Amino acid sequence: MRSEWLLEPDVTYLNHGTVGVTPRRVLAHQRAITDEIERQPARFMLRELADTHGTATTLPRLRVAAAAVADFVGVAAEDLVFVGNITTGANAVLRSFPFNAGDEIAVTNLGYGGVTNTAAYVARTIGGTLRTIELPQPGASADQFIHAIAAGLGAHTRLLIVDHITAATAMVLPLAQIAALCHNRGVLVFADGAHVPGNIPVDIDSLGVDWYAANLHKWAWAPRSCGLLWSAKQHQGYLHPTVISWGLDNGIAAEFDLLGTRDPTASLTAPFSIELLNEFGGDDGVTAIYRYNHELAWWAGQHLAECWGTRFATPEAMIGSMVNVRVPARLGSTADDADRLRAELGDAGIEVPVFAGTDQLTLRVCAQIYCDRADIEHLGDAVAKLAAN
Ligand SMILES: Cc1ncc(COP(=O)(O)O)c(C=O)c1O
Repeated sequence: MRSEWLLEPDVTYLNHGTVGVTPRRVLAHQRAITDEIERQPARFMLRELADTHGTATTLPRLRVAAAAVADFVGVAAEDLVFVGNITTGANAVLRSFPFNAGDEIAVTNLGYGGVTNTAAYVARTIGGTLRTIELPQPGASADQFIHAIAAGLGAHTRLLIVDHITAATAMVLPLAQIAALCHNRGVLVFADGAHVPGNIPVDIDSLGVDWYAANLHKWAWAPRSCGLLWSAKQHQGYLHPTVISWGLDNGIAAEFDLLGTRDPTASLTAPFSIELLNEFGGDDGVTAIYRYNHELAWWAGQHLAECWGTRFATPEAMIGSMVNVRVPARLGSTADDADRLRAELGDAGIEVPVFAGTDQLTLRVCAQIYCDRADIEHLGDAVAKLAAN
């Protein structure tokens, strides 16, 4: 499959999750949409793309695309809008939610920095507080995560931001159970599913969260700047994008679909990228992609831990298409050590993120159908060699 991507031939690319890697065919499709726009830009951008006042007689192009994406992630299209990325979706929700002074926003220590900063900023502007809930490291069970959240919520917590798949540590959290316990305590839930669509099967409706933001440009192979924001109906009345434009107060589709003139091609290409996931999966469609990537990621966890004499204890049910593995203690534990290891692996032609933060460095390996066991073995040998020096 490697030839379906533009990746440099001599790089071992094990970092699909960071910013995604877009298949050639998806880029060609996006280019075709750009060409279509250029044939009559005013008609496309002003009359066909979005419906800001509810007057269109045919379904606007962004709504056609939203319907395909909604189907893929298990929601109704009317409750889903495109956003450029998770940060934009989180800002929209947190900066339009009617908080009261004294409210608390809870995040977790495993959350993504840009989103945590958004929460910190909003807590500051509303005269509220930010609480950071400490979650266990990889190796803990799903129940331990649920207990940590239950123990970490405070009396004034109004809203929890939690990853569906954690960023650096690559664990699939028991989101439905977390949402249920939060609701029992009167706490709303914003789920960060940056790594979810295309990585594991997802049915957002069944999770019981209040908002769900996800990227399609990571694992769903869409062009970059393609994310989604889903909102439960009861929160849509006060949900606005951070940039206000023509659709104000005409519903979330009208508000988010047109934020001034910008390039809509990434969002419009998302249905094609979903089709490609199904096409490349063969008879089993995207299920075959999930299966291949999961099996490779799971194998990588076992193989690398064995190769490096470290422990890999994440339960298989908490693994999607990527794994976080401890590297040999000899390679250090500080942020500088992490930077050095990442650079040394880069020099060896291996792209993989390395993290400090615990007593030992860890790295995250993403499986994707352009990788195979030989890539993982190459990483294993390279790290083992560095540790032996
Ligand atoms: C949990 C999580 N949230 C968000 C992001 C990225 O944020 P954005 O989509 O705004 O670039 C990542 C990126 O890896 C992530 O892991």
